[in-house]
Amino acid sequence: MKILVVGNGGREHTLAWKLANDTVKPEIFCTPGNAGTATLGTNLSYGATDLEGIRSWCADNRPDLVVIGPEAPLCAGLTDVLEADGIRVFGPCKAAAELEGSKQFAKEIMKAGGVPTSAYETFTDPDAACAYVRERGAPIVIKADGLAAGKGVTVAETIEQAEAAIRDALEDSAFGDAGSRVVIEDFLEGEEASILALIDGEHVVMLASSQDHKRIFEKDQGPNTGGMGAYSPASIVNDAVWEKVRDEVYGRTLAELKRRGITYKGVLYAGLMIKNDQPSVVEFNCRFGDPETQAVLARWDGDMLPAINGVIDGNLSDEMVQWKDNHSVCVVMVAGGYPGDYAKGDEIENLDTANAVDDTVVFHAGTALDGDKVVTAGGRVLGITSLGRDLPDALSKAYIAVESISFNGAFYRNDIAHREMKRLGMDFNKE
Ligand code: GLY
Repeated sequence: MKILVVGNGGREHTLAWKLANDTVKPEIFCTPGNAGTATLGTNLSYGATDLEGIRSWCADNRPDLVVIGPEAPLCAGLTDVLEADGIRVFGPCKAAAELEGSKQFAKEIMKAGGVPTSAYETFTDPDAACAYVRERGAPIVIKADGLAAGKGVTVAETIEQAEAAIRDALEDSAFGDAGSRVVIEDFLEGEEASILALIDGEHVVMLASSQDHKRIFEKDQGPNTGGMGAYSPASIVNDAVWEKVRDEVYGRTLAELKRRGITYKGVLYAGLMIKNDQPSVVEFNCRFGDPETQAVLARWDGDMLPAINGVIDGNLSDEMVQWKDNHSVCVVMVAGGYPGDYAKGDEIENLDTANAVDDTVVFHAGTALDGDKVVTAGGRVLGITSLGRDLPDALSKAYIAVESISFNGAFYRNDIAHREMKRLGMDFNKE
């Protein structure tokens, strides 16, 4: 069996690792992949948004399955292109991926379907947008409507910051076409958590809960990143929250999509803000989260292919998804300077030592091969992921592995899972 994984981040290495370990032992291809995926199979040279290149490779090589990782090819319609050629694809079609591709569309669906989320308005005129933020007050959230490589969201603490974000997007085209329309949302208070759900068009199977850490520095300080670490499960998602997410978030969203003739098949990521056991949707993503995937798939018990096939064939069931009792942690190591400018090409040392730590896998993100050396090639470089009998055990293994790895300028947060540790009465401070 041949599987092609599209993408080159930590999420894609994790998906490729999980699929490579399936009982059927498939042959794995990744495009473009990274130094980690190269250890599992063959990296191809097509970029994730090279729809024509990927289509042509699939036409020649007829993979049994294509798993699309990132949002950009999904929103560009890679699923539709490949399915038209008779290829089996895991990932939503272009119309369904609009839940991530357009923040306005996602908000419209939520409003029409009665999904809990913050109040919002959409603007293309900067003066009207600025007048709206003056009326609503701060803090307030300004989002570029389209895909902006994770950079299109400003949580403005003041009216001045909000107005600057509006003018950056609408007047100075800071996000190109993606920011030619902005969605302005009320700020939500609470604690964030992530739920990923597999959906086969009808049935929803929610995966284990997790919590990401978006800010670059400890105690959630500094600029936002793609995610500095995650753990699973996240107990903020208690039984009451779980049921509300299932019914009020996924149930109502799917019903509204269906009412509009859109079928969602793939994974749908709900970024949630939870307060007093009430979840509200901060964002939808049409893909697995990164680094949530590392923490969540580490806990997946058994094969993942039956569930992926269930999504594609429309016969997904709860029994296809089982969890280990363990807790997991993923600590992301980044290149110095990230999320600003950072160096590339620095050699990464001691990966074998880290991988030899019990119950630990080093997932690669921004890495590449330079001869026989593994070098840095992106801002988020590695996601060191460990399983433990409990959260402290998982943390201890993950940080032992992290501390054994070195590369020039390596940086990571020491406080991944700090909220959960506090809930456990174990303030976690490794400094
Ligand atoms: N961890 C955030 C995301 O995947 O969008």
